Amino acid sequence: MTNKFPENFLWGGAISGSQADGGWNEGGKGLNTQDLRYFDADWNRAQRDENRNINMTTELFNKALTDTDLEHYPFRWGNDFYHTYKEDLRLLSEMGLKVFRTSITWSRIFPKGDETEPNAEGLAYYKSMFEEAKRLGMKVFVTILHYDTPVHLITEYGGWKNRQMIDFYVTYAKALYENLGDLVDFWLPFNEINASKFNPYNGASIIKDQEENYEQAIFQATHHQFLANALAIKAGKEILPDAIFGGMIARFESYPATSHPDDVMQSILDENYTNYFYIDVMARGKYPSYTKRMFDSKGISIVIEDGDLEILKANTIDFISYSYYMSMVSTTSKEHEKTSGNLVSGNKNPYLESSEWGWQIDPVGLRISLNQMYDRYQLPIIIAENGIGARDVVEDGKVHDDYRISYLNSHFEQMAEAIADGVEVLAYTMWGIIDIVSCGTIEMSKRYGVIYVDRDERGHGSNERIPKDSYYWYQKVIETNGEDL
Ligand code: BG6
Repeated sequence: MTNKFPENFLWGGAISGSQADGGWNEGGKGLNTQDLRYFDADWNRAQRDENRNINMTTELFNKALTDTDLEHYPFRWGNDFYHTYKEDLRLLSEMGLKVFRTSITWSRIFPKGDETEPNAEGLAYYKSMFEEAKRLGMKVFVTILHYDTPVHLITEYGGWKNRQMIDFYVTYAKALYENLGDLVDFWLPFNEINASKFNPYNGASIIKDQEENYEQAIFQATHHQFLANALAIKAGKEILPDAIFGGMIARFESYPATSHPDDVMQSILDENYTNYFYIDVMARGKYPSYTKRMFDSKGISIVIEDGDLEILKANTIDFISYSYYMSMVSTTSKEHEKTSGNLVSGNKNPYLESSEWGWQIDPVGLRISLNQMYDRYQLPIIIAENGIGARDVVEDGKVHDDYRISYLNSHFEQMAEAIADGVEVLAYTMWGIIDIVSCGTIEMSKRYGVIYVDRDERGHGSNERIPKDSYYWYQKVIETNGEDL
């Protein structure tokens, strides 16, 4: 009998700096784009959801720059990982975690983003964190940019639509390779590089009301990010010849709503424009053949300088990575029922259940996407994010999150099926392994972790960490390498 998972399979957990760290004004850190996102704890569910879809406005941005009512900015508080990382990593290692994914906050290393010398205190923080992870036997998987661009790079340069961002980013990446390179096992230059399309503020630091041609700015920014990605890989391989680099998207699996050929064609277009376009450029090293039609349909014409295409061609990724939370359906019908989801809202699939936030739960979709991605690129895959946001309740000091266990169990089973199908899956880093601030709705009550954190959006609470039932369940999965699923 063959094992369900390879012997060296990396069971992991993931967080991001801005959602976990807190310590927003400590260690010489500068303000970043996430620090400015506003939240009101008194909002009801509908207001929270609506806020999720609001792209940053100039008014909110300027207000946040000088606002003294800091309790409205949950990303400044996170779950306090900045102060608790040693204890949190210990808990994760006791669960048996084999790989820990987090992101580095650019504004801790270069507070404004355009300096030439890095902030030693910021580097020391990550050095200590990664040394601790290594000491506890975990591999380190680092995202270089997870939505938190230094604010100064917007006020002074206008964000990623400005080509100068590429140099600032590569200087930042080099500082990481030179100072932390020997502690990092996997590098991810950008979190969900396709986010620029759905949430341009998070993804590309673009503020909608400042753009005359919004779509144009988004795709110009994306071109700069593709170049930054390629040049970061180039510099990385020069400084650290054995380093491994991935390209990541938020994967929106989209099935045809019916067998009507129009829906099938729509599904191909949706897959190309929202998913494959981004990995096609990073993995194949060139803009795909459907780019012209995609750009023409939106009236987009981006500036590509001499030499850019050669840079993309010469510096491609070593592995594919994506977040997988849900699937949707594609249709040309305007009548189809809608549902919400990660970054985007889309068409509802009548065969699937949804989470409380309307995200459609589809474990088989994970197997489908793994097969599709592997077949298309023939590169190893790391599932960088997957999990379920839920409103956990503490009862007598315990959290009985059987819904999370069931979600994870079904997705692990399908991951095993994909491996049996022949897909090379290197690692799985479960999202929000310890409760953090939600990226979309900016609330603590949407919890993903196997470790509960007693803290709210305003940074209030005892800060106690409580392993949930899913913690002990995941511990057993890791111990048995998934054989008992
Ligand atoms: C991914 C992001 O898109 O989804 C994470 O990379 C985010 O930062 C995760 O937290 C889950 O989304 P949310 O909105 O539920 O936090």
